[in-house]
Amino acid sequence: MATEERLFDAALAYVTDLFAGDSSGHDRFHTLRVFHTALRLAKEEGADPLITGLAALLHDADDRKLSPGTSESLSNARRFLTEQGVAADTAGAVLTAIGEVSFRGTDSAVPSTVEGKCVQDADRLDAIGAIGIARAFAYGGAHHRAMHDPAVPPRRDMDAAAYYAHEATTVNHFYEKLLLLKDLMNTETGRRIAAERDRCLRDFLAEFYAEWDGER
Ligand code: ADP
Ligand code: NI
Repeated sequence: MATEERLFDAALAYVTDLFAGDSSGHDRFHTLRVFHTALRLAKEEGADPLITGLAALLHDADDRKLSPGTSESLSNARRFLTEQGVAADTAGAVLTAIGEVSFRGTDSAVPSTVEGKCVQDADRLDAIGAIGIARAFAYGGAHHRAMHDPAVPPRRDMDAAAYYAHEATTVNHFYEKLLLLKDLMNTETGRRIAAERDRCLRDFLAEFYAEWDGER
């Protein structure tokens, strides 16, 4: 097996273990979707496939919800890269991409590398469209959040601290994050896919409110 494929397989096995029992929306299938989308974007953008693929597979290994103690040091991802003997410059590029991927309200970073841009777009695409809707409600349920409360308005322009501290209803999460993502895409292909998935979110919300208000 080529080194690249062997590393991809090992990275998937490594994060599958880390994610066992997680309910914060991070799982093996999310990782696989981000991996496939990121590689597709990488091809269009001329990004390095090894760096993009490894960053996609490891992007949630140190996520602040999953592993708060390592979200700054990225030590789970770092350990994997060291154990596998990945070359220092490749490992460094993977860690840079992972460090810049997360949504943090108005403090979100625009990734400094094309590989980081592909992974960030792929991760964000998985938060919108039909899968994104399913993930949002799964997350809300796991955190005992109300689905919707008409008396609680969505908040705008939250910085990282406010965004992390905030306990949104799931419908408000659409306004506080999901509907913002289509305008934050880094790549042309990402923008095109995001436009379709954003339409899916808006159709869903229109139907949701119509049923909520007894109009259907
Ligand atoms: P990312 O993978 O971009 O770092 P997060 O860790 O913020 O995303 O979220 C993982 C998943 O959980 C995403 O699908 C996201 O939309 C969803 N999610 C995060 N916060 C909330 C929330 N407050 N309400 C509903 N869904 C949420
Ligand atoms: Ni993710």
